[in-house]
Amino acid sequence: MTASAPALTLVAGDITEQPVDAVVNAANSSLLGGGGVDGAIHRRGGPDILAECRALRASHYGKGLPTGQAVATTAGRLPARWVIHTVGPVWAKSEDRSDLLASCYRESLRVADELGARTVAFPAISAGIYRWPLDDAARIAVGTVRAAKTSVAEVRFVLFDERAYQAFAAQVG
Ligand code: AR6
Repeated sequence: MTASAPALTLVAGDITEQPVDAVVNAANSSLLGGGGVDGAIHRRGGPDILAECRALRASHYGKGLPTGQAVATTAGRLPARWVIHTVGPVWAKSEDRSDLLASCYRESLRVADELGARTVAFPAISAGIYRWPLDDAARIAVGTVRAAKTSVAEVRFVLFDERAYQAFAAQVG
């Protein structure tokens, strides 16, 4: 299969409802759940996802999943087949962590390729509880996915509110 940049689509809505091969979770390094997208995915997906996350912690990530990396579990009761968990950076005024945010998108697509996923849904990683300014989060997300070499055919950004949707729409053009 040829690796190239995927087609981008924007959807206003809830990522847990997306009938895609893989949804990306804006997790934290514990992999044990939290608020925002992470809370919604575990709530809607059911306990199997958390059980797999615990097993991953025990087998591979004793100190937690590092920021900017990604790892997959199955998706429990979600319509998707897999959840790709990634850990975005907390926004910091004093330090440029853009590379780590870009890495979340690149690494998630690399894991998606390993799984054979062809359609992948992303939330606006770091743009909620981790406080990344929305316009900059959207710029990094769209720029990184556009530059990616992947076998994923479609990347769907799923934006939960109007402000986030408009920020991504401005980048996609
Ligand atoms: N579908 C799509 N987008 C959503 C959904 C949803 N169901 N729910 C929220 N968003 P956040 P972060 C949007 O806070 O900033 C957790 O506690 C939200 O409006 O989920 O990376 C983790 O465990 C925002 O635009 O992720 C970590 O501790 C975007 O998704 C921490 O939050 C990301 O917001 C990660 O913070």
